Amino acid sequence: MKKILVVGSLNMDFVLETPHIPQAGETVSGRKVSFIPGGKGANQAYTIGRLGGNVKMLGAVGRDDFGRALKDNLAGVGVDVSDVCVLEKEATGQAYIAIDDAGENSIILIAGANGALTPELIRQNEACLKEIIESSDIVVMQLEIPLETVLYVKELAASLHKLIIVDPAPALSTIPDGFWKEIDYIKPNETELSILTGKQMKTQEEIIAGAKRMLEKGVRNVIVTMGGKGCLLVNHDLEQFFEARSVKAVDTTAAGDCFTASFALALAEGKSCFEAIVFGQAASSIAVTRKGAQTSIPTREEVMSVYTQCIK
Ligand code: RIB
Repeated sequence: MKKILVVGSLNMDFVLETPHIPQAGETVSGRKVSFIPGGKGANQAYTIGRLGGNVKMLGAVGRDDFGRALKDNLAGVGVDVSDVCVLEKEATGQAYIAIDDAGENSIILIAGANGALTPELIRQNEACLKEIIESSDIVVMQLEIPLETVLYVKELAASLHKLIIVDPAPALSTIPDGFWKEIDYIKPNETELSILTGKQMKTQEEIIAGAKRMLEKGVRNVIVTMGGKGCLLVNHDLEQFFEARSVKAVDTTAAGDCFTASFALALAEGKSCFEAIVFGQAASSIAVTRKGAQTSIPTREEVMSVYTQCIK
């Protein structure tokens, strides 16, 4: 099976369950706090490992209990964590996530070691990074580590003709146009696409126009996820909508990560882009029915049972 390299963040999520998310100046009595392994990069690597893929994670944690717990959780589903750097002077990344009774969330990130995963740190072992990318078939990244690092890894991966998938989250409005060249797939949600293009979008036509703007910048395929509605694939040849399966969502944390990772895994297994999207939708439709980030990721059997019904 093809090998997938995930380059990105690892966070310990502090999940606060609350009746509603407080407004500025408001105090709310929460119900519960839990520590759950998260981070967009780690969630993606975890998903691929849990679903049976061959996956390696490149990222950074601090030398602390959270860092150890995050690496152990990934290793527990078969992710190769031998190139997750353990930094002496940084704490492991943290995400403070408030979830309300409607399943809506708001997140505050403390980057910690993720912010220290700079091109300089990676360049200290450039030969090793080249070898890691050379031995991978697909490189998956997000934007919770420095943008220069994502750009650097992307350029190396493109020079080695690897398939590149970028989940542009959290989205930034300041990404230079050149960043997008030679990326095979991006997977923004509607809000992220608005931030990336600087245009508000409500209708499907506006979303397609936004996706086309990303194609003009050099991305080869744009998959825009639209929550419970479904997703849109836009490339130079087609625009296709994929309807979502109807489920009762309780927590959408990591649903996008689950989609991106399952999609990447399906491509690695030789599925077509269309099949891979349906596979990603099947996995994320289960993840939203469960609480937490890595705790919400389904098993292979669960995903297959939904996928086989949806692909008919
Ligand atoms: O995408 C979900 C993730 O975003 C959470 O696990 C949290 O760590 C933040 O990075």
